[in-house]
Amino acid sequence: MIDKEILKENLNNTLLETNFSQLGELYRGKVRDNYIQKYKNKRILIASDRLSAFDRVITTIPFKGQLLNQVSNFWFDKTADIAPNHVIGVPDPNVTIAKECKPFPIEMVVRGYITGSAWRAYKKGEAVSGIKFPEGLKKHQKLPETTITPSTKEEKGIHDEPISREEIIEQGIVDKDVYEQVEEYVYKLFEFGQNYCAKNNLILVDCKYEFGLTADDEIVLIDEIHTPDASRFWILDTYQEKFDKGEEPDILDKEFFRGWLMEQAFMGDGEIPDIPDDIRIELAQRYVKSYEIITGKEFSPALGNIKERIKKNLNL
Ligand SMILES: Nc1ncnc2c1ncn2[C@@H]1O[C@H](COP(=O)(O)OP(=O)(O)OP(=O)(O)O)[C@@H](O)[C@H]1O
Ligand SMILES: [Mg+2]
Repeated sequence: MIDKEILKENLNNTLLETNFSQLGELYRGKVRDNYIQKYKNKRILIASDRLSAFDRVITTIPFKGQLLNQVSNFWFDKTADIAPNHVIGVPDPNVTIAKECKPFPIEMVVRGYITGSAWRAYKKGEAVSGIKFPEGLKKHQKLPETTITPSTKEEKGIHDEPISREEIIEQGIVDKDVYEQVEEYVYKLFEFGQNYCAKNNLILVDCKYEFGLTADDEIVLIDEIHTPDASRFWILDTYQEKFDKGEEPDILDKEFFRGWLMEQAFMGDGEIPDIPDDIRIELAQRYVKSYEIITGKEFSPALGNIKERIKKNLNL
């Protein structure tokens, strides 16, 4: 586990944002600065250290960008034979060069357990993405089968809404044969992720995938895969006991930060509270821990000035 001193020393060495206009057309997402090179069909994704909650950038966390980029690429690597992905290369710990794709305007959410928004809807007797789960399920229970609950992918600032498989196909949002191929990829990727995680005492509870079409009309996995931002992880060996007692599972994510923000009476509106150093360090430790449990590898922080390093690695 990383030395706390290293995190402390790097509290002021984080990557908030980049402005490399020579790299291409900039689209700044919540986490990544994307530079699009249309004529080359390439997208340079630079993972920043931004931490957002309630759709706002709250602070930066040392090494978060590197951690996310490297977790994603760990999985892209491991799953390339299951589903083709957008990665061309990883020239820097924070940077992925990808094939620029036409994203399908849906998010493929896949669930092994009933929790989160699906649980909230189920409790009210509602279907989720047109799927009616069997009666009598308890909160956090394993679903009888892995279930895809797609949602729309909206522009920045608009909330994604669940949508059914039938609606996606009938409305021509994605062609039926393409959707079926995507579905097959999703089930296989999720199964692979679950099996891999189980070996590291983790449950891959649910996650979301995005897919798109390359310039050559190939269906590929884009964006990110099995990161703490796009997935929910629980600790495997305590799950059953906690579930039987009706307790919350042990988690491996950043929910605690939302809780902390809410304690400061911040729920997305008004001035962003100052985030104390020890909270930022705690979050960094959690991200490092997640990385190490998920990948089973020790995290090796890239030290030194991040922007300068990226510039050098991208020949800017
Ligand atoms: N290969 C790709 N081709 C085209 N778009 C991509 C590709 N990979 C990722 N994207 C898109 O790039 C963006 C990645 O940046 P980031 O994850 O920070 O954005 P985000 O805040 O999640 O974005 P959004 O709010 O648009 O979902 C996402 O909008 C994602 O859909
Ligand atoms: Mg994203």
